[in-house]
Amino acid sequence: MSMGGTASYETTDVVVPPLVRAAVSAATELDFPLCCRPEIGRLISVLAAGVPAGGRIGETGTGTGAGLAWMVSTARPDVKFVSIELDVDRTDAARQLFADRPSVTVITGDSATIGDHARSICSCSTGVLAAERGRIHPPIRSKCSDRAERSRLTTSSR
Ligand SMILES: C[S@@+](CC[C@H](N)C(=O)[O-])C[C@H]1O[C@@H](n2cnc3c(N)ncnc32)[C@H](O)[C@@H]1O
Repeated sequence: MSMGGTASYETTDVVVPPLVRAAVSAATELDFPLCCRPEIGRLISVLAAGVPAGGRIGETGTGTGAGLAWMVSTARPDVKFVSIELDVDRTDAARQLFADRPSVTVITGDSATIGDHARSICSCSTGVLAAERGRIHPPIRSKCSDRAERSRLTTSSR
């Protein structure tokens, strides 16, 4: 949870990519205060940059797309993203943000159903996951909070 995350972009020293700025603006318009903080965004952008060509990254709890934007801004162009969010207005905002990026899919729904939309997806405590060609990075897989999901991932990563 990023309490005050949206507002923290007003004072941050972190260099923020334009796509992230747009996601944060959408959050401000929707009175959504929980964007990931810039420091976290920078961290997950480094992780995303390490996913090899053809990999997939999934996220649970899109918000208005700030975290997704951090990752999209650094990932290889052929890496695909799936993100799922319960709130319709936030989903719509994120969809608009990534409308010109076919590699990004934003779904309205419960994170528990993300496995219905994409294989080799692992949600973890930061809401981020990384997968590459059916293999989940072990340190990330081990952080899955949901036992059934972890078991499925272990199976699907063989
Ligand atoms: C901390 S905010 C996400 C911040 C966003 N990832 C970012 O980087 O700016 C958590 C989001 O998760 C969503 N959420 C909560 N429970 C959910 C669920 N079961 N399925 C999908 N989204 C959920 C909330 O509506 C909220 O938008």
